Amino acid sequence: MKKLFIVSNRLPVTVEQQGDKVALRSSSGGLVSAITSYLEHSGRGGFADTVWLGVPGCTEKAWDAAVAQQNSTAYTYSPVFVHWKKYEMYYNGFSNSVLWPLFHYFPSYADYNSTYFDAYMEVNRQFADALTGQLSAGDVVWIHDYHLLPLAAMLRKQFPGITIGFFLHIPFPSFELFRVIPREWQKEILTGMLGADLIGFHTADYVAHFLSCAEHILDVTHDGQNISWENRQVRTDAFPISIDYNLFHTAYDLPDVAQKRAEFSQQCGNRKLIFSVDRLDYTKGISNRLKGYEQFLKDHPEYKGNVVFILVIVPSRDGIARYAERKRMIDEYIGSINSQLGTISWQPVIYQYAHLSFAELCGLYTACDVALITPIRDGMNLVSKEFAASRKDGRGVLVLSELAGAAAELSDALLINPNDIREIANQIYAGLTMEPEEQRLRMEKMQARIRQYDVVQWSADFFFRLYETKHSQQQVEVRMLESTTRVMLTDRYAAALKRIILLDYDGTLMPLQKFPSQAVPSDEIIYLLEEITKDPMNDVYIISGRDADTLHKWLGKLEIGLIAEHGARARKNKEEWVNFDGSDTVSTAHIEKIMQDYTQRTPRSFIEKKQFSLAWHYRNVDLKLGAIRARELYGHLVKQVSGLPLSVLNGNKVIEVKPDFVNKGKVVERLVSGGDYDFILCIGDDTTDEDMFRQLAGIEHAFTIKVGTEPSLAVYNVRSTEAVLSLLQDMALSSARIHQFN
Ligand code: UDP
Ligand code: G6P
Repeated sequence: MKKLFIVSNRLPVTVEQQGDKVALRSSSGGLVSAITSYLEHSGRGGFADTVWLGVPGCTEKAWDAAVAQQNSTAYTYSPVFVHWKKYEMYYNGFSNSVLWPLFHYFPSYADYNSTYFDAYMEVNRQFADALTGQLSAGDVVWIHDYHLLPLAAMLRKQFPGITIGFFLHIPFPSFELFRVIPREWQKEILTGMLGADLIGFHTADYVAHFLSCAEHILDVTHDGQNISWENRQVRTDAFPISIDYNLFHTAYDLPDVAQKRAEFSQQCGNRKLIFSVDRLDYTKGISNRLKGYEQFLKDHPEYKGNVVFILVIVPSRDGIARYAERKRMIDEYIGSINSQLGTISWQPVIYQYAHLSFAELCGLYTACDVALITPIRDGMNLVSKEFAASRKDGRGVLVLSELAGAAAELSDALLINPNDIREIANQIYAGLTMEPEEQRLRMEKMQARIRQYDVVQWSADFFFRLYETKHSQQQVEVRMLESTTRVMLTDRYAAALKRIILLDYDGTLMPLQKFPSQAVPSDEIIYLLEEITKDPMNDVYIISGRDADTLHKWLGKLEIGLIAEHGARARKNKEEWVNFDGSDTVSTAHIEKIMQDYTQRTPRSFIEKKQFSLAWHYRNVDLKLGAIRARELYGHLVKQVSGLPLSVLNGNKVIEVKPDFVNKGKVVERLVSGGDYDFILCIGDDTTDEDMFRQLAGIEHAFTIKVGTEPSLAVYNVRSTEAVLSLLQDMALSSARIHQFN
């Protein structure tokens, strides 16, 4: 039976060593909180076993001794032991001194050291090797977070069919930011992630950023969700991570939580209590939070002596200079607030640098009046969700940064800009003075959202989409023209007495080029077309949107039919070119004028002039600008052609105005109805070719083939122009064999 492999840098437990003694404690942070909650709820989740791979951060000996003390868990640990020097460069180096600051919009904190990158790739390879020894086909791998961005592609190489999900627990930055890292790194990161079948992010913004980076850097296309990559459709989606709602909601009544709550309340006396907890991190906005609190005390001196701020910082990454430096700054700042504003009987900030137990954490969540959570940037921020869920009493106010991913869901919090000190101060005041009824109403709304999409729902949603993606990939595989279907097709070809072969040109016979004039047919294409046309049982047509002159120049010597401009002009074998019946030239001068304006405003766009149509190409234009201008031009032209016998076509990086009485579907209808063919083959790659496929749908002896893995009306798909040529090669051989024996 299949296994589930959870893969993350950190295991859910951390070994603590004191002299000879070792002990295990729960690891800190959002990733571990969410995945352990999921595993506790999912039971076996349909898997024979769940294995969690990660770096234990200690020696093998210490690990064995610590694990021996632990009771059995619902999953198996699979520690990956990495040499400490390499780990240092991979973890403190590339992961936390390049990716973390950059992805959290602190580019000036990033240290682009190439030895970090090399170590990062090596450790990822070590993870891949560790997995390889344990994986079987049918297993599911779920990779987590920025430490392991290249891993999915490494695994995919060795296990092409394996199901891989990837989830990023931090923001994905915009292209403008992502492009600052060296090109090789950009590519390894993106192609690494695309090794997965499903790539999950916290918010729709992060999805859009990832897609835009892939589009710009890898030159791939997407439909806003799916990317065609190495013959697979990879899906991206937003899954806002959540918490174990019931665990936190019911914690309110647990005796040890109630006891802690009572202790904290007693310690505060009649004072109001503000609380915050975060890992030590410059992204958490702790300095600004303190400034906001200080400002609040200055603006509202009546609160001096009547409020306490308990600020807990959980130790994290203090081996990195920036973190150690941040800690020093915070320590000093708290010292200065307490010494300047405090009195003998009142300390404004109570500060603790330590890990909290669950009872302490929930005791503080449920005792405070205001939870003050002010990250400068945060992928999600689970603390805010945990706080809201834990307030079974309907009391307490959440003051939350609008730059935390959680703000998208928790709009009933008092939202602040973490760089606006005055706003933080004002919202602290608003929180402390909020009427209980309003507190309850806001809390209920936030709780309803978290309850509805808790960590169980989050993971179920992720797995559902992962299996769905795999299923649709498998369906495309079924439609792929491969071995058996291909043999069937060539057998039908061989058995047929009268065949018609209808081929699009660009993207079907020749790969798309930067400029249309560069797509000159290769010798191989000419040879294959010649071979096929030698067979007297074959009628061969190239049906293209190209102008007649170009088709004539490139393919005119061949004994084939040429259809230009989507059917406006045609040439049967070597006969003269004729215009389609009824094709009167409509003046397109005003259209050309409009297109020229757009060309001037859009660097690297160009106009292709044909006899009956005009095409505005933007395949070489900056992606965003191209998309904006194309939309604008399309709308503009649609208005211009109204009432004229012209139509506007929105193709692959081209906007074309052509006579509306021609389309490839009509051409095919005419060609096919003219002869009693018992074998029809039609191949194309673009949206305009769908008209041909539609025309031939349902005809038993018609074989329609789409080049590419995108959905299509064609019955079969092939992956590339090479596959088309290889199919034509088989047909040419088959014809040669038939005529040799006749
Ligand atoms: N947390 C912890 N140890 C503590 C205090 C808190 O592990 O001593 C947990 C907290 O309950 C939350 C997580 O750490 O689940 C922090 O997640 P968040 O998304 O807020 O921030 P991250 O640390 O992932 O940046
Ligand atoms: C964030 C990251 C996690 C990480 C956690 C704690 O939540 O997304 O991947 O585990 O912080 O950081 P640490 O460096 O201590 O593992």
